[in-house]
Amino acid sequence: MKIIHTINGLQAELSALKACGKSVGLVPTMGALHAGHASLVKRSVAENDVTVVSVFVNPTQFNDKSDLIKYPRTLEADSKLLESTGASYLFAPSVEEIYPESDTRFFSFPPLDTVMEGAFRSGHFNGVCQIVTKLFDLVKPVRAYFGEKDFQQLAIIRELVRVMNYRIEIVGCPIVREEDGLALSSRNARLSALERENALKISQALFKSRTFAATHTVSETLKFVEEAIAAVSGLRLEYFEIVNGDTLQRVTDWEEASYVVGCITAFSGEVRLIDNIKYKDFLN
Ligand code: PAF
Repeated sequence: MKIIHTINGLQAELSALKACGKSVGLVPTMGALHAGHASLVKRSVAENDVTVVSVFVNPTQFNDKSDLIKYPRTLEADSKLLESTGASYLFAPSVEEIYPESDTRFFSFPPLDTVMEGAFRSGHFNGVCQIVTKLFDLVKPVRAYFGEKDFQQLAIIRELVRVMNYRIEIVGCPIVREEDGLALSSRNARLSALERENALKISQALFKSRTFAATHTVSETLKFVEEAIAAVSGLRLEYFEIVNGDTLQRVTDWEEASYVVGCITAFSGEVRLIDNIKYKDFLN
């Protein structure tokens, strides 16, 4: 695996490979890689001739500057993990390389980006779309891989690709969890032992709510999860919403959509964690 820091270096490598007809898969990340990222990379390696993994902590998607400062940066460990996945390139540019001048482009996909994360993290999805379009334009992949843990991000990127006519297949990959159910996240590294114990209650509430939902209404299920989180003194719920998985708009009845997902964000101590669960899936 080659580590590349410059756009010119990456493009020189990729244009030679594309000239030989090689297909390129892209896995955009912000580093602090874990088994969830590895699952995206392995899928890309299986489906493409060449896989580019970008590691870039994108400043434009952080509305909270202290969150940006605290975000883990672990390039050496990331490159070690990637060696075992079969990735061809680790692209790790500097902020100046990606944003030689400030990015004034504005992306907006209402109502997908005005709810949930969009309501609580002003400008976040604009920043995500800025970096993702830059990476798409640089790498020009055939496929790009994103995790379903960031459920809203995945929906917005699919919409971005549709509206901007990118000829890129967006591959959504299932959430990878610890054995006990905690969704893998780069932020988990910041949890103390007690915060980790409390954080586990988030996925436990979601799993229990799926059984509960089978015999209860949407509003009863909302209350079930809200109360389960409120019962844990170290957790603070930011939101829990039960939404149509395609439009991300709230549903009030299970029959309103064929794809229904519960999306949650809660703080364990100072660490903001997100997770989601499918109540009704178009695949079932
Ligand atoms: O999901 C992430 O890690 C980031 O939002 C992404 C897609 C790599 C853009 O910075």
